[in-house]
Amino acid sequence: MRSRAEQEQGSTANWFTMVLGVVSVVGAGVVTAAFLYRKRLERSFGRHDESKEENVEGKIVVITGANTGLGKEAAFEMARRGAVVVLACREHGMTEAAILDIRKRTSRGELIFMELDLSSLESIRRFCKNFNEKFQKVDILINNAGVFVPLKKRMKSYDGYEINFGVNHLGHFLLTNLLLDKLRAAAPSRIVVVASTLSERGKLNFDDLNLETANDEDTMFAYGTSKLASILIARELARRLSGTGVHTYALCPGWVKTDLARNAMDVPWKKYIGMLMSSFLFMLTPHQGVQTILHCAVSTKVADETGKLYRNCDHWVTTSNLAEDLGKKLWEASEDLVVQKSK
Ligand SMILES: NC(=O)c1ccc[n+]([C@@H]2O[C@H](COP(=O)([O-])OP(=O)(O)OC[C@H]3O[C@@H](n4cnc5c(N)ncnc54)[C@H](OP(=O)(O)O)[C@@H]3O)[C@@H](O)[C@H]2O)c1
Repeated sequence: MRSRAEQEQGSTANWFTMVLGVVSVVGAGVVTAAFLYRKRLERSFGRHDESKEENVEGKIVVITGANTGLGKEAAFEMARRGAVVVLACREHGMTEAAILDIRKRTSRGELIFMELDLSSLESIRRFCKNFNEKFQKVDILINNAGVFVPLKKRMKSYDGYEINFGVNHLGHFLLTNLLLDKLRAAAPSRIVVVASTLSERGKLNFDDLNLETANDEDTMFAYGTSKLASILIARELARRLSGTGVHTYALCPGWVKTDLARNAMDVPWKKYIGMLMSSFLFMLTPHQGVQTILHCAVSTKVADETGKLYRNCDHWVTTSNLAEDLGKKLWEASEDLVVQKSK
């Protein structure tokens, strides 16, 4: 016969096993439900239609920030279509590593590293001088590189501009302008601007474009403002380039798992766990995120469009004010800013 102590020990063990069983069943149910929900959601992600695209074999494609994330995936996609891809990046070692990775996936196309640091106007001018000496034209320019730095870090570009504004907007503004002749030479050609729906969280203050006096509580504000600026310039470019055969496209790739948040990771742990869970459910892979970039860069469906916005491989209607006079005013202000630093 078992003693009373042994009986109590046995019933505690049974109770523990039962609780463990219930927790395992509920846990497995939650994970399966989340997995099925994710799979169902994936069916709604936009997908570029490869049967309706221009042939880019031998075409010159320049991609900024192509050593990682969406830019690297775009470089792979262009290389596998036989394009000559210029990876315009700031770090040689990381870009060579990215090229080796891409080469494991495709042997087609050409992959060429050229140094470009978008936080330095001098580096941009040097890149364009080298590029313009080496190449006769640009068929597709993908302005992809970007940083997402909360304003409260007060990080500046090499030339002293607020880092999001300096890299995401001003750097690409100068780059695009210095490559315009080569884009015109390739017409029909495309300029693809990787923006974001967070542009709707931004606001331009022409008395303080450098955000010196802006409230830095909203983590998204500076990034959003830089993306709003990129969109306004894409639309202004479309007006200025009307009839030349150079078309512009601005897009949001969706919420994609990349290194973009590397400068914004100091969030409280509770928020971090919440973010991890929602990222599992909602975040796109780089392959899923690159679809709208491909849609804008090579799809025949949008070949006759210019100055429009895209998301999920479709048109995107933004709530931002994109009035023509704002685009013109920003163009002139941006010209002044890059010229000032060249004196
Ligand atoms: N991921 C998203 O959820 C999401 C959503 C909406 C829009 N976007 C946009 O998508 C684009 C690609 O970002 P991602 O998500 O792929 O992020 P990522 O993995 O962080 O890639 C960003 C790229 O930009 C480059 N870059 C940063 N500063 C630069 C500089 N000063 N000069 C030259 N290159 C520079 C980075 O180079 P280094 O490695 O050398 O720093 C990197 O190659 C960005 O414009 C981003 O704003 C992303």
